[in-house]
Amino acid sequence: MNSTDSTPVKLISIVGARPQFIKTAPVSRAIEQYNLNNHCPQITEILVHTGQHYDYKMSQVFFDQLEILSPRYNLGVGSGNHGQMTGAMLAKIEIVLLKERPDWVLVYGDTNSTVAGALAAVKLHIPVAHVEAGLRSFNRRMPEEINRVLTDHISSILFCPTDTAVKNLIKEGFTNIVNDGKYLNRDLFENRPSAFSFQLSPLVVNVGDVMYDAFLANKNLADQKSGILSDLELKSKSYCLATVHRQENTEDPRRLLNIFTAFEELSSADCPFIILLHPRTKKALQRHKGKVRLSPYVRLLSPASYLDMIALEVHARVILTDSGGVQKEAYFARVPCVTLRDETEWIETIEAGWNHLGGADCRQISDAFEKAINFFPLEQLGLYGDGKASHLLLRNLISSSFQSDSVR
Ligand code: UD1
Ligand code: UDP
Repeated sequence: MNSTDSTPVKLISIVGARPQFIKTAPVSRAIEQYNLNNHCPQITEILVHTGQHYDYKMSQVFFDQLEILSPRYNLGVGSGNHGQMTGAMLAKIEIVLLKERPDWVLVYGDTNSTVAGALAAVKLHIPVAHVEAGLRSFNRRMPEEINRVLTDHISSILFCPTDTAVKNLIKEGFTNIVNDGKYLNRDLFENRPSAFSFQLSPLVVNVGDVMYDAFLANKNLADQKSGILSDLELKSKSYCLATVHRQENTEDPRRLLNIFTAFEELSSADCPFIILLHPRTKKALQRHKGKVRLSPYVRLLSPASYLDMIALEVHARVILTDSGGVQKEAYFARVPCVTLRDETEWIETIEAGWNHLGGADCRQISDAFEKAINFFPLEQLGLYGDGKASHLLLRNLISSSFQSDSVR
């Protein structure tokens, strides 16, 4: 493709799990704006939903509320073991890609839908752009870590949300780093044929975090439209919000029971705990019924819509979570956070003092909670970009399209 080519760029976005619906929304919005401004080439976006998440409150509610493009394909893969789920996605995505023959495949985050989308595309020689690339927990027992590492190493362009992510990729041997629109390693990029650049040395760009774009775009709407606080009879800063869903916390009974015991011990009449139960966690709690200690100050609720979630986050006193997205949103909302894991990919939030690792041990969670509740921020840092990550991402994708012709 050359810069005067007016053939539309065809892009397929592959999503499947709750956070991916939220991440794709600002990117689709940026594409709409780009097309409205009559840029050339125009972009045609097709959304593919793998069906990994399927309950109304885990999927459709986000399409309704965020006015996300309707999926042209819903592959209906559903739940299962990792191999079963990823394999079924791979087979079904391949059929779609063979039919549609897009110029790019866009994948988000680190779920089984992410790695299946990337693998299906790269085997068909379709370049992959990975949004939220370069994140590492350095814990290979985490399914997401495997998904991230594999996806990064088969993508042609890596959109990192932070400098930490860029540094992680440099340590893994990536050399084509774009900084402020300039290639840091100009020699490598300019003196090699583009097929080499794209196949062996993908572009790495810190564009900022698309979740921050989504948060900023919806914060005021949440203020205006969400009635969740009054529905639950909650006052601002007089409750804690919690979510738990990681495999390591839901499938290990010891960790699960420790976490819920900590919730019971830390909650009080003055500061009840609002727990939004992922279906996986609801099932795990049912399996261990009778062993989980619950108090009247721990309220178990079904998953919230995105606007209700933002409203609950903004007004919480402390957020406790093992979610990647919720850790960051706590920081965006300037609410102290306790992460219910032994490590995190979002280490900037820890370094800035907003996030504290609680693991899955009652004592450690309680210590982290104490630190969180007494945290007084000194400075406000913008760690995740300027809220325009989606636009920057698109600019880079389009300019890469002009250079990637020889690999298609
Ligand atoms: C997945 C991602 C995880 C991400 C999370 C976001 C992988 C390996 N994990 O984890 O990275 O943080 O999504 O929420 O891709 N279930 C339902 N209804 C649904 C969806 C799930 O009942 O709509 C139940 C099923 O029992 C299922 C279980 O939840 O087996 C786990 O779902 P799955 O998609 O495998 O993993 P998540 O824990 O959701
Ligand atoms: N979220 C939501 N309702 C909920 C819990 C989470 O809308 O009840 C949103 C949350 O605001 C964030 C995203 O879902 O944007 C995070 O997804 P999740 O915790 O499922 O996955 P992770 O980020 O850990 O991959």
